[in-house]
Amino acid sequence: MALAICIALSLLSLAKSDRHNCSILYKTADCTSRGLMSVPKDLPIDMISLDLNHNEIRTLPNNTFERYSMLLTIILDNNKLSVIETDAFSGIKRLLNLSMEKNTVNFTEFNTNETFRSLKSLELLNIRQNWKIMESSWTYPYLGHLTNLIYLYIDLTNNPNFTLMDVKKLTKLKIIRFEHCYLTAFKNITFEDFPDSVEQIYFENINFIIPHILLVESDFLRPFPNLRVLSLIKMICSLSDALKIVYPFQHKSMQAVVFKQIGIPPGNSVVLTEAMVSYLKKVCVKTLVLAENDIVFLGPNSLASLNIPIALIQLYCLGTDFP
Ligand SMILES: *[C@@H]1O[C@H](CO)[C@@H](O)[C@H](O)[C@H]1NC(C)=O
Ligand SMILES: *[C@@H]1O[C@H](CO)[C@@H](O)[C@H](O)[C@H]1NC(C)=O
Ligand SMILES: *[C@@H]1O[C@H](CO)[C@@H](O)[C@H](O)[C@H]1NC(C)=O
Ligand SMILES: *[C@@H]1O[C@H](CO)[C@@H](O)[C@H](O)[C@H]1NC(C)=O
Ligand SMILES: *[C@@H]1O[C@H](CO)[C@@H](O)[C@H](O)[C@H]1NC(C)=O
Ligand SMILES: *[C@@H]1O[C@H](CO)[C@@H](O)[C@H](O)[C@H]1NC(C)=O
Ligand SMILES: *[C@@H]1O[C@H](CO)[C@@H](O)[C@H](O)[C@H]1NC(C)=O
Repeated sequence: MALAICIALSLLSLAKSDRHNCSILYKTADCTSRGLMSVPKDLPIDMISLDLNHNEIRTLPNNTFERYSMLLTIILDNNKLSVIETDAFSGIKRLLNLSMEKNTVNFTEFNTNETFRSLKSLELLNIRQNWKIMESSWTYPYLGHLTNLIYLYIDLTNNPNFTLMDVKKLTKLKIIRFEHCYLTAFKNITFEDFPDSVEQIYFENINFIIPHILLVESDFLRPFPNLRVLSLIKMICSLSDALKIVYPFQHKSMQAVVFKQIGIPPGNSVVLTEAMVSYLKKVCVKTLVLAENDIVFLGPNSLASLNIPIALIQLYCLGTDFP
């Protein structure tokens, strides 16, 4: 009898471990690419990291993670998430990093004012690429409770409004990555709601179907007086317009300014003139990268006027006129 129970139990536990099929090492559960439709309920309760990248999870019901109260990191990238119930994240008060990139969450449909309320410790939130097509009506989630947030990775709609996110409450925010940008204008008011704590901003991948950036106002980055790193990569915008946005940083020190693959194809070759760098030359930049912008010629004094040792400027020029 006892033996039978014992066998039954061990069979049961075998069946269980067979069910989740995740590998567990040092309190870290690797459940990537397991074809999971839901978050496994039978993982060790003391794990601190749960990686569910590349599965088929569509719904996070109430109390999904409640058993795993020690969790510091949850990765849900590349799933099919569309429903997140109000209490989905309850019970994981220590959570530091939450990544939900590449899903289909419609933030208009659930109230993040409630859903994110319990994530008081969160330092990193990644919600990039949760739309299939660009929609100006895309709503940013309410983030006002995430007062410890340091890293925010989101996309930019063509005419974003951050007021309802309450981003001004994120006074520890330091690093923003806008990985996919659908902006058509750089306006003075675009970022007016952001806190001044931000130190690094990365813009990447303007959607190539969208018309290029038509309007650039020079105080676009004025809300970030403490910015030390500015990076723009792969943007459809004239280089001369893009260079305007360093306007607020004149007479300030920056660690790095990167303008890479900026231009309006096809035939976007530009001559870098002194006028184009008129703001840049007044910024004290430690590392300047002007790469792959099809700069074919350096106009007189264009670089010489920059207050940067030439060795720290990384240039990749296609033209032969590079001195
Ligand atoms: C479970 O994991 C084993 C070993 O890693 C693997 O061979 C098997 O294909 C996995 N099963 C499923 C359903 O993912
Ligand atoms: C999830 O929790 C919320 C808040 O407690 C509740 O209003 C909602 O009905 C719950 N959802 C389900 C499916 O039970
Ligand atoms: C959270 O993400 C940040 C930024 O990628 C990283 O430095 C940190 O180690 C992560 N923390 C945990 C607990 O995974
Ligand atoms: C998101 O939800 C709102 C409100 O239910 C709806 O109007 C909108 O069409 C949805 N967007 C997408 C992309 O499904
Ligand atoms: C979020 O909830 C707070 C109360 O906790 C309320 O003051 C605020 O107006 C709400 N914001 C939104 C955008 O619903
Ligand atoms: C954003 O929306 C708020 C409230 O709906 C509105 O008051 C504000 O003027 C808008 N800001 C921008 C930059 O459009
Ligand atoms: C944007 O800021 C610049 C620099 O302060 C200013 O010259 C310009 O008039 C502003 N544009 C608008 C529309 O307010």
